[in-house]
Amino acid sequence: MNKSNDSPPTRGWDTYWQGARNSGAYASDGVNHPAVATFWNTALTEVLRHGGSRRILDIATGSGAVVERLTESASDGNHEITCVDISAAAIDSVSSRFPGVVGLVADANSIPLDDAAFDLVTSQFGIEYAGPAALSEGTRLLAPGGTLILMMHVRPGIIFEECAAALDAVRRTRNSRFVQRALAFFEAGFAAVRGADRTDYDKAALELNPAIEELESILSDHGEHVAGDTIVRLYSDVREIHGGIQHYEPDEVLRWLRRMDQELAEYEGRMQSMCDSATDANGFAGICERIGAQGLHVDRSEPLMTADRASAIGWVLQATRRDRAT
Ligand SMILES: C[S@@+](CC[C@H](N)C(=O)[O-])C[C@H]1O[C@@H](n2cnc3c(N)ncnc32)[C@H](O)[C@@H]1O
Repeated sequence: MNKSNDSPPTRGWDTYWQGARNSGAYASDGVNHPAVATFWNTALTEVLRHGGSRRILDIATGSGAVVERLTESASDGNHEITCVDISAAAIDSVSSRFPGVVGLVADANSIPLDDAAFDLVTSQFGIEYAGPAALSEGTRLLAPGGTLILMMHVRPGIIFEECAAALDAVRRTRNSRFVQRALAFFEAGFAAVRGADRTDYDKAALELNPAIEELESILSDHGEHVAGDTIVRLYSDVREIHGGIQHYEPDEVLRWLRRMDQELAEYEGRMQSMCDSATDANGFAGICERIGAQGLHVDRSEPLMTADRASAIGWVLQATRRDRAT
């Protein structure tokens, strides 16, 4: 079942969850670290170890990474799982993957559900996108004795560095106007193949050259896998089409470039929001303090580290509601 309140702005996430994440500009989600899966499996097994019936809420659920862990860890109880996301496409995806889960399209800042309605509230790299007010929503929804488990973006940290590099690479690509220049170049190129004068083509080629150089410099600065291979694929696809322009369908090429233009703009927005949502040690201490002031006891608050302990992956915050909010 999907319920919906007024449609809030999705800030590019809807396009992402509609499936564009499988294309070049969306391939890097940065959260597939084995330590993350281990963390959730251990934490959820511990919290749900007594079986029984629990009401569980996952906030900013995306396509259901935590819901998947919940359904595995909560298989011996009669649990009711609800998930919330600002993106309708994300909720559609969770609902089709997990038919027993209740999906709700809502802004995490204002979740239309009753106070103290849940025994367990979770969020993985999600609640922080909605800003500080969403934390109060998370605690408001927690019943006495209930547990809050959050994994939040950390800075500095491995995901933050990856997103910051992707942000810089995509922003520089957009500033170079590579896609627009490639569009003009191919438009003139297809016209030249049809017999038009080559003046426009030569001019467009000259204008494209500095943008090509900028992409080469981005790839040299950040490595060719930056931004989930988006830049390197754009660069090599343009070169490949250029090398055999007569074999390509003009409409398809121009449509692809216009779509890339849109995807890069949304990708930049998404990377910016990831970087903005990452919290440093002071910010995280403030969050723990606020959670405490809202009547919760903080049981665990620390960075989750990579296996070699060289980088932080995310902040882990686990807290229990002892009483109602003060
Ligand atoms: C990085 S994704 C994480 C998704 C999922 N929790 C996971 O770990 O795969 C961030 C999610 O936050 C959602 N989101 C962003 N702003 C939100 C808001 N104000 N309210 C609810 N969800 C929001 C996005 O739609 C997206 O699904």
